[in-house]
Amino acid sequence: LFAGETEFVKGVVAMDGLPEADRLEVCFAGRSNVGKSSLINALTGRKGLARASNTPGRTQEINFFTAGDLYVVDLPGYGFANAPVAVVAKWQALLKQYLSGRPTLRRVFVLIDARHGAKAVDEEIMTLLDRSAVTFQVVMTKIDKVRGAALEESLAKTRAALAKHPAAYPELILTSSDKGDGIDVLRAIIATI
Ligand code: GTP
Ligand code: MG
Repeated sequence: LFAGETEFVKGVVAMDGLPEADRLEVCFAGRSNVGKSSLINALTGRKGLARASNTPGRTQEINFFTAGDLYVVDLPGYGFANAPVAVVAKWQALLKQYLSGRPTLRRVFVLIDARHGAKAVDEEIMTLLDRSAVTFQVVMTKIDKVRGAALEESLAKTRAALAKHPAAYPELILTSSDKGDGIDVLRAIIATI
């Protein structure tokens, strides 16, 4: 699915800029800096495809990529960002419109940092997805940075949060874009869409 056929299509800053909804798509949502762009790069095996950075707020547009017959979409982060308040507010509004109003959006991968577990802003997005009947699945990121009891605690916290959301898949996918854990699992899941 991803091998050699992933291309950047366009970056979008307003709903009327979205590409025609002529194929299914999946997207990656999550707090700023959680690792959305890095995960897309790991899935495609192309380091510089989606721009990743240590500065929260790196991705400022809805970025569309093709992967086989799908669109794969990298979103700006929610929660916090190093950008002016008015700019952040504009992204958040666009993000919510996109997540609740894209007819071909087949699944949202909600990324959660394995060190922290689900936070209030994650719950807010999950509730929005429930209301819009958009199926989502949680991907824990950066599992290379946490282990043992601390990991178990954040997984338990996240599972407890998920149990309240009808649009959620119950199982968590554990990933590290740095070490490669879970990447093949996620690729296989996307290939079934
Ligand atoms: P925004 O576009 O700002 O919303 O951020 P993002 O969610 O796209 O995060 P990005 O992929 O840019 O990664 C943020 C930082 O986390 C970068 O410094 C990455 O190198 C780092 N990072 C991402 N994934 C992993 C991982 O699996 N392990 C480790 N150790 N670091 C990671
Ligand atoms: Mg990004």
